This record gives sequence, C-alpha cells and structure tokens, in this order.
Amino acid sequence: MRPTVILLLSSFTAHALGAPYIISDTVAGPTFFDFFDFQAIPDPTHGRVNYVDQATAMAQNLTFAGHTSSIIRADFKTVLDPNGPGRNSVRIRSKKTYTTHVAVFDVRHMPQGCGTWPAIWETKESVWPNGGEIDIVEGVNDQSPNAATLHTNEGCTMPAYRDQTGTSGQNDCNWLVNFNTGCGVKFPTTNSYGPPFNGNGGGWYVLGYAVERAPTYIKVFFWPRDSRFVPHEVTHGGIIIDTDNWGTPIAFFPDTSCDMAQHFSEHNIIINLTFCGDWAGNVYDQSGCPGTCVDFVNNNPSAFANAYFDFSSIRVYRYAFRSTIITEGLT
Ligand SMILES: *[C@@H]1O[C@H](CO)[C@@H](O)[C@H](O)[C@H]1NC(C)=O
Ligand SMILES: *[C@@H]1O[C@H](CO)[C@@H](O)[C@H](O)[C@H]1NC(C)=O
Repeated sequence: MRPTVILLLSSFTAHALGAPYIISDTVAGPTFFDFFDFQAIPDPTHGRVNYVDQATAMAQNLTFAGHTSSIIRADFKTVLDPNGPGRNSVRIRSKKTYTTHVAVFDVRHMPQGCGTWPAIWETKESVWPNGGEIDIVEGVNDQSPNAATLHTNEGCTMPAYRDQTGTSGQNDCNWLVNFNTGCGVKFPTTNSYGPPFNGNGGGWYVLGYAVERAPTYIKVFFWPRDSRFVPHEVTHGGIIIDTDNWGTPIAFFPDTSCDMAQHFSEHNIIINLTFCGDWAGNVYDQSGCPGTCVDFVNNNPSAFANAYFDFSSIRVYRYAFRSTIITEGLT
C-alpha cells in the first residue's frame, strides 16, 4: 500500500506548491535498458552507422547497465570495410510516451570524437513532423556548446526576446524553413557539450514539457556537475519536483506564437549516436578534424573509445492535478 501513502503525501505537497510533477519512471541501474526498445534501423540522417539490435549490442558490450552507470557506445575495435555497413552503434527509444512531463537526464559522459553526432531527444516518429521534435542534447564533431532545438510543422515561431540565458538562432521552428534547421537555442557555456562537458564530470539536462495545460511552454535547463545552483530535487532525484522554482531556463519556448497543443503530441525519448551523415558529415571540414569523415570513421576505431554515453539515471515526472492525485490516492 506504499503507493497510496506516496500519492496522499504528494497531494499535500501539491497543495503547497505551484505546479509540481510526480515521479513516473526512474531509469537507472541494471534494468536501465528495460525502459527502451533497440532500433536496428537504417539511419534516417544517412550516417556512417550500423544500428544494432539488443542481442548484438549486449554481445559486443555496446550497452552495459551497471549499478551506478549505464553505458551506450559505438564499436571502437573494428576497421570497417569501405563497401560494408557503417560503424556499429545504438539507437534506443523509450517504450512509453509522455505528454506533459519533466525529464531529468543525469549524464556523466557523452560521446566525443571527430565524426560523432550524439543526441538525446524526443518526438513521435510515426507522425513526424506533426507532433514536433525537441532536441535536448545535440551536436557534432565535438563542437561546444550544446543547443536545444524544436522542429515543428508550419505555424510555430518563437519571439526574438524571451526569458532565457541561452542565445536564440532561427526563430521559425517550421521544418520546411532552411532545410529543417528548427528554432534552436545555444547554451551559454562550453561545458554543456563534448570534451569540456566530459572533462567536468558531465551534468544534468532537464526538459520541462508543458503542452497540454495553461500556460503551455517548453523549457530546457542545464547544470554542469560542479554547479552551485543545481536544485536539490534534481541532484537527489526527488519524488516531487517543480520547475517553477528553478529560475530562468537556458532555453525557453513560450506559446506566444505557437499553439503547443496543436504542434506537440505525446513523445518518446530517443537516444542515438550516429557518425557523419547529414549534419556531422556536412560540416566536418570546418571542425578541425582530419581527412574526410567517412574515411576517418572507417579507419580509426580507437578514435571512438570515448564515443559513449554514461548515464547515472534518467527520471521522468508527470504533471498531476491535485484532484487527480487525491482520486488516485483514495482508490
Ligand atoms: C538522431 O537524433 C537527431 C535528433 O537530434 C535526429 O534528427 C536524427 O534523425 C537522429 N538520427 C538517427 C540516426 O536516428
Ligand atoms: C563492458 O563495458 C563495461 C562498461 O564500460 C565495462 O565495465 C566492462 O568491463 C565491459 N565488459 C567487458 C567484458 O568488456
């Protein structure tokens, strides 16, 4: 009967706070990968990658779930046949979907190396671009800082000035504008991505996705590992969290000129690591990396020894109206 106690407790706290979210899923430890499906699919972004299934990933130790650390990596041992498939890697997608929720990613290390293109993101692939896409962590070829980006169908734009610490790029989120650039916000510090992120012990990325209640918005927060400002409920994996208490986000996507409920649906959480392809390949020349991207990926397996994610945990919280909580608590 413990769940009942927790629910009643949270309804009490819900009363005291503004807009709390309650823990739904704690993804950590040996069962980390139970939360996901492995997607052994062709890369939609044309990368030099071969996404493997779960059995292969486990056999090759590309995925490994320990007690304090869950690893997702690419192969770093094999020289590739230039006419054969790309470098073995992993793409996983949450079995569950979420509408209004908060996702807290405690990341200790992210893939680094020339040609790498890692991402932590959300979308509903079967209806894309309807339903929207949110890139929480994404970058290529070790180029810091991180950027958070929305991609939508037509009719969703962001105001030029808004309450965030990051720097906006394009403000039209429409995927048809500028080859699906999306509306992105660059993070203010280099320790938000790649080698500087890893050198600093990682950090916490948090997505606040409030798309079906008023006010609707999308927010992305980030705290580096050594931050003095990271909320206690984030570091300690609280049962209840409230993004309203965390101050100015790094990226703020308000509903001023974007009907969130219309442009954003339920989402899966997706984690992928590809190489080269439409983005990392196209800008490879400008990133100070040697040779050409595909040759580099084919011929230098040891350059990918650090091409791995290490998650301490992922926690997903759902929004619950106070009345809902009480109803659940009593039944
Ligand atoms: C990986 O993630 C990005 C999201 O940032 C997405 O655009 C891309 O299609 C994904 N690549 C693969 C291979 O799934
Ligand atoms: C698999 O990977 C984990 C995490 O990197 C590592 O601790 C472990 O020793 C590896 N196992 C083998 C058999 O290589």
